[in-house]
Amino acid sequence: MGIFKRKSRIDNNTMKNGAKLITVAKPKSVAAEQFRTVRTNIHFMAVDRRLKTIAFTSANISEGKSTVAANLAIVWAQEGKSVLLIDADMRRPTLNSTFDLTGQSGLSTVLSSDQSEVNLNDVIQESGIEGLDLLPSGAVPPNPAELLSSQRMKVLLEAVQAQYDLVVLDVPPMLEVTDTQTIAGSVDGVVLVVRQGITQKAGVRRAVELLKMSHAHLLGYVMNDVVPEDDAGYGYGYGYGYGYGYEKESEN
Ligand SMILES: Nc1ncnc2c1ncn2[C@@H]1O[C@H](COP(=O)(O)OP(=O)(O)OP(=O)(O)O)[C@@H](O)[C@H]1O
Ligand SMILES: [Mg+2]
Repeated sequence: MGIFKRKSRIDNNTMKNGAKLITVAKPKSVAAEQFRTVRTNIHFMAVDRRLKTIAFTSANISEGKSTVAANLAIVWAQEGKSVLLIDADMRRPTLNSTFDLTGQSGLSTVLSSDQSEVNLNDVIQESGIEGLDLLPSGAVPPNPAELLSSQRMKVLLEAVQAQYDLVVLDVPPMLEVTDTQTIAGSVDGVVLVVRQGITQKAGVRRAVELLKMSHAHLLGYVMNDVVPEDDAGYGYGYGYGYGYGYEKESEN
């Protein structure tokens, strides 16, 4: 029933120019400090649970998944962990431009290969940041949903978990494509990125419902773009899932 046409929310900036790595550019900024707080809160949410694979998703496109996933992967590496950041959003990849990577191979190459064993070391690249390695998305495949939901993806996740302390996945938005549901159920925890003033409550509720159906463990949500008072114009805050959590979803 749209009388007014909604402005398109789709933003291709990070695909072209990369995500802003405020945690590297300005490690003492408010935003970088907020990322460190988010890091701590995620661990609080997973006390007594195994937390080696964490996926970042959102309800819709362009709500900040890639920016939040990359900066959190960095603050985990900065605290001394060995981290692998996987660009599993094969339709809207960002890792190559964020970290100035060259080459075409990546996740899609591994998942679509007909060899029974693929040497991951051929596709994993160094980030230039101590402790952080990268697995780019590879060339955009014709069947990203199929690849991400494949048995091969599960085997890959098992393999990388053995090599790293933490594996961070930037995955597609829940409401746009179906592939995220399978992957969400295969990782130890999922964080939902919510963009203040943009993401609609109904969208978040639906994303949470889908996560529940996938038997995903929702760790909480990152409220992105909360207080744009930092000099870089970036504000991050972290919610603990109140109101959006499984057990409280009916209250909204
Ligand atoms: N806190 C913020 N303040 C200002 N701009 C932001 C903030 N977070 C993200 N952006 C901008 O919003 C756009 C989308 O961010 P990003 O690419 O990280 O989101 P995404 O959810 O990964 O998008 P996609 O669905 O395309 O993969 C980018 O232009 C990015 O620079
Ligand atoms: Mg993205």
